[in-house]
Amino acid sequence: MAKLWGGRFTKATDQDVFDFNASISFDQRLYKHDIIGSIAHAKMLGEQGIITKKEANLIKKGLKSILLDIESGKLIITPEYEDIHSFVESNLIDRIGDAGKKLHTGRSRNDQVALDMKLYTRDEIDLISDLLHELEKTLLDIIRNNKETYMPGFTHLQKAQPVTLSHYMGAYMEMFLRDSARLYDIRKRMNVCPLGAGALAGTTYPLDRESVSKELAFDSATFNSMDSVSDRDYLIELLSALSTIMMHLSRFSEELILWNSNEYRFVEMDDAFSTGSSIMPQKKNPDIAELVRGKTGRVYGDLMSLLTTMKGLPLAYNKDMQEDKEVSFDAFDTVKDCLHLFNGMLKTITFQKDVMEKSAMMGFTNATDAADYLVGKGIPFRDAHGIIGSLVLKCIEKNCAIEDLTIEELKEISPSFEEDLYDAISLKTCVNRRTTKGAPSDSSMDEAISRYEKLLKIHD
Ligand code: ARG
Repeated sequence: MAKLWGGRFTKATDQDVFDFNASISFDQRLYKHDIIGSIAHAKMLGEQGIITKKEANLIKKGLKSILLDIESGKLIITPEYEDIHSFVESNLIDRIGDAGKKLHTGRSRNDQVALDMKLYTRDEIDLISDLLHELEKTLLDIIRNNKETYMPGFTHLQKAQPVTLSHYMGAYMEMFLRDSARLYDIRKRMNVCPLGAGALAGTTYPLDRESVSKELAFDSATFNSMDSVSDRDYLIELLSALSTIMMHLSRFSEELILWNSNEYRFVEMDDAFSTGSSIMPQKKNPDIAELVRGKTGRVYGDLMSLLTTMKGLPLAYNKDMQEDKEVSFDAFDTVKDCLHLFNGMLKTITFQKDVMEKSAMMGFTNATDAADYLVGKGIPFRDAHGIIGSLVLKCIEKNCAIEDLTIEELKEISPSFEEDLYDAISLKTCVNRRTTKGAPSDSSMDEAISRYEKLLKIHD
């Protein structure tokens, strides 16, 4: 057991206590950020004359060699240390001797771990943002290429009005763009450096907190030392934003699972992104979409777990906060995997355009437009609604669509119907007359696409 704090103890720690208390099994993934933070701290200590420049250089070299050795596999992180901070510091002392013992001057593990977690999380936000961006690019491709792919839009999962695949995918694009904006906001708000807060009350050494903050690409140092070591808001905000990403992916997955079913047949998933059954030879299952939907629950769980951990904590640092790591890492890993796989699945999916169009033609998705047609002939909307209602009833009896009736049959219901009805209720007309901002018409979608291109910084 290699410890940083044996001095005031007269007995060895019970092995079970050590194991229960230790975090190295999961915080070892912070090694790089721990070392980078320590290098910045040592450099500042040297510049402020708190340690000599020579000592600062020795520490920097030692830390760099530890980083290299971990990355090359030469140095293995082993569980006899309590946490990654102890592991790095003990290794440093082994390598450079007494100078290594000065690294922790003016620092506590409380501000150290707060820094490490922020540095790590900031990188994860960037990785997740990049993956979201890739998914948005895939969506943009589908949106650009399907302005005339007609399909039914649903309310209550009942066919409602015709839209296009382009418009449908636009709805998901909006969700993911909001997700990207949320990540951006969180990154900005969290980007203040806690190092120098010490255990809770700052330090008596003349630290230059702003120079460390600048060195590590933060916007400034944090403003209250007690808050600095006990703030986990940014993780809660992030887990909430990640839960929202998962909620969006899960809704999208649900949609694709339905569309991939025999009943819908709107899409066909690529063989490379589907799985089979061990007993039923005919099966091709959408497991990726189902797993993404399933994993949404664990990310919600991660958020709830951290909220609950934090709710009763008095200021400042408490060991409970060590529990922030596993849930955050789990959420980061899960969201990255899901975004990556979902994007691959979406990229390779085949949209059965003819099936979608046929489905839009059945189920009276043009009934509202037929009523609007009668309004155009001078009939008040409420009366037109009633007339089309009885027309729909007649069609249900005859098992046909409105446009399958002859003009004579139509006139029996209302003399206001003329030959121009057929064109007025075609899918193309229904969609393209919806020209308001955000609607599915060709012209509205063109506006939406230019906005997406600008937001995704894509020009061609
Ligand atoms: N492993 C600890 C954590 O993750 C590091 C901080 C330890 N601080 C302390 N006062 N024991 O929170």
